[in-house]
Amino acid sequence: MDQPLDGKIALVTGAGSGIGRACALALARAGAAVVVSDISAGQGEQTARAIAEAGGAAQFVRADVTDARQVEALIRATVQAHGRLDAACNNAGVLGAQARLADYPEESWGQVIATNLTGVWLCMKYEIGAMLAGRGGAIVNMASVLGTVGFPSVGPYVAAKHGVIGLTKTAALEYARQGIRVNAVCPGFIATPLLEQAGIREGTDQYARIASRHAMRRLGEPDEVAEAVVWLCSGASSFVTGHALMVDGGFAAQ
Ligand code: NAI
Repeated sequence: MDQPLDGKIALVTGAGSGIGRACALALARAGAAVVVSDISAGQGEQTARAIAEAGGAAQFVRADVTDARQVEALIRATVQAHGRLDAACNNAGVLGAQARLADYPEESWGQVIATNLTGVWLCMKYEIGAMLAGRGGAIVNMASVLGTVGFPSVGPYVAAKHGVIGLTKTAALEYARQGIRVNAVCPGFIATPLLEQAGIREGTDQYARIASRHAMRRLGEPDEVAEAVVWLCSGASSFVTGHALMVDGGFAAQ
């Protein structure tokens, strides 16, 4: 049976864990050859192996999205290996420290903005270049429900994710007539190592409190986000651009 991304070349950053890994696996299931990228070689290679074991096509390329030269090299390696880039999911991100603004450590501020906002811009910068030289393409930026509302103790994260939505809309306007669609996905809280590292684990009070903020009274699964990414990368969403798609169990509807 034909798959929606048969013959397509897709790239996922931060694909060594959580949502990015689910996206890479889902894009491969949908027929794409996937360039799996992450700052962590061990985790990224694990994802690429999982794709290959499931019968898909994947290649790992290490890159730190905060480093322009590494991002440029990642896109160059993708185009050298596959001839072009059709779809990209700019997913790499960190939560950073948790503190109110007046107490927020400057170093963590810098890391969160560099990874979650500047990293998305750097990826788009080189992806768009490759897509313009190819057949156009689809970019999906990983924002968050926290790109649409405030949330205490994670100021730079909230600011970066609001910024990602703004960049997404701007890029969509700039490249719509050149065959590049640019959208964002805004997940609610998703059970991944990012939340676990922040102490949000099943069975804790904090987990229950956060679950209760979603209309569905639960956290999401990485695969539920990946389905939206696959759709936005595919021709099924051919008239969708500049959109921030909530995948949040009703968090922001309240
Ligand atoms: P995660 O921590 O499980 O995975 C993040 C991946 O990004 C890791 O493999 C890590 O090595 C990689 N990474 C970190 N810094 C990097 C850098 N400088 N360059 C390249 N790779 C880097 O996190 P999760 O939860 O899967 O998050 C993925 C994305 O989804 C992030 O952008 C996050 O902000 C976003 N998101 C997550 C939500 C959640 O509740 N888990 C909710 C909404 C958005």
